[in-house]
Amino acid sequence: MPRFYLTTPIYYVNDIPHLGHAYTMVNADAISRWHRLLGDDVLFLTGTDEHGLKVARAAEQNGMTPQEWTDRTSRRFVEAWEQLEMSNDRFIRTTDPRHHSAVAELLSRIHDNGYIHLDSYRGPYCVGCEAYYGPDELVDGCCPVHGVPVDEVEEENYFFALSRFGDRLLEWYETNPNAVMPESKRNEAIGFIRGGLKDISITRTSIDWGVKVPWDPAHVFYVWYDALVNYVTAIGFGSDDSNFAHWWPAVHHLIGKDILRFHCVWWPAMCMAAGIDPPKSIFVHGWLLVGGEKMAKSKLNQVHPAELVSEIGVDALRYHLLRDTPLGPDGDFSYEGMIARYNSDLANNLGNLASRVAAVVAGKCGGIGPAPRRESRLALEAEVACDAAQRAWESFAPHEALEATWKLLRETNAELETSEPWKKEPGAEVNGVLGDALEVLRIVGLLASPAMPSTCTELWRRIGLRASPLDARFPRDAAWGGYPGGLVVERGSPLFPRKQAASSQG
Ligand code: ME8
Ligand code: MG
Repeated sequence: MPRFYLTTPIYYVNDIPHLGHAYTMVNADAISRWHRLLGDDVLFLTGTDEHGLKVARAAEQNGMTPQEWTDRTSRRFVEAWEQLEMSNDRFIRTTDPRHHSAVAELLSRIHDNGYIHLDSYRGPYCVGCEAYYGPDELVDGCCPVHGVPVDEVEEENYFFALSRFGDRLLEWYETNPNAVMPESKRNEAIGFIRGGLKDISITRTSIDWGVKVPWDPAHVFYVWYDALVNYVTAIGFGSDDSNFAHWWPAVHHLIGKDILRFHCVWWPAMCMAAGIDPPKSIFVHGWLLVGGEKMAKSKLNQVHPAELVSEIGVDALRYHLLRDTPLGPDGDFSYEGMIARYNSDLANNLGNLASRVAAVVAGKCGGIGPAPRRESRLALEAEVACDAAQRAWESFAPHEALEATWKLLRETNAELETSEPWKKEPGAEVNGVLGDALEVLRIVGLLASPAMPSTCTELWRRIGLRASPLDARFPRDAAWGGYPGGLVVERGSPLFPRKQAASSQG
């Protein structure tokens, strides 16, 4: 059985989740669900990143201990992901003692292998990024990501000998052309490595909210060095060797471009230094922008998923995030765009087809859905849609998978318009047309289930199927002819009632 281990970044608990985090999550969730449809052995991991200065400061500002604050804020992420129907198999918290042990183990191996030394560091540090910058990387003296003034820090720290990994990293990129995707992000990482790597500070003495350095407890690990390790903690690194060997290195990291260097340069080098294989693949997506700016916890431009859910519902929000912002480039979030997509794809295409078919089945077939024809134009269209959707889901392109699926819905609506079964006498022709349309609804319910699990489950129920698309298998259950006919088709309320385009933004 193929294995599919997918991770998201673990999010800082300095504030509650916003739509940018939801974007990564919904994509990771849908891709994981696709692999479950294939019958793969799937592990989908997410969690929270709870150490570091940014979190310690947020706790202080809120008059709590860091532990109280992280317990409370981590919970908000768990709740947000439950609301969005995430199917993550695990949720890791970096304050978990098991994580502390795994970090100590991995970093001790790097230390024992001779890649860690003591040195002193002075330079700009952005707390928002929890990252050091070279003076040349600042923009008008400010952080290039957050646009705020940076701190100047000077400390005696342990350093990781990143500079010794340039050649090995380039060789890894050379022999693993798909290690980092898309191509533009791979080139960015390679360019950074070619520019020359400096050793990097991996511990701090000025704060104590972190994982203690096992060989020198006056230090804690700099938060990134603890955070990256979560990907191996979760699968038993240092404690459960067989579980670790089961999942590693067949991992896919899905991340935003803000944390490319950490994942595409530092992390593979850390793995090499510790004597484990680097990750199999890293997919880097762009930013969700609001009015041209990155949506961020540190800015006042956050849109919260819960607000949008109360406006259009969970599945419609999931669909919008997957369909309108391809993984890779940046994309602008707009309320108007979201409503327009809802009306065109969900209310019109999917919703109309479902209610129209149910209405005509009620009128012409006594409410009992007929079986599809053995051969028809729609059968061919369905095959095309399945092939295209499969290729797209597997190459981290949910927007293309959904486009292919919705093309099938459009073809089916057009077919109904042409044959107008509602104007005809009951009989073989009407049965054939309606049977085909029901079969399309069944297949679409399967193909779209990674994006809209609840809607697709409801769709299957309404056309009389007793199984859930979440338990289906692709391609087996997507083959034309699976709708048996003779089932009671329910005329429910509209799946997606139309929204006013001019609805206020609230
Ligand atoms: O960086 N558009 O956590 P973080 C798209 N703790 N994605 C966005 C986004 C936006 N506007 N804003 C955030 C950290 N994201 C570290 C990670 S991993 C070992 C440690 C998503 O809370 C995107 O996936 O700042 C980005 O990489 C991540 O949230 C950063 O979340
Ligand atoms: Mg961030």
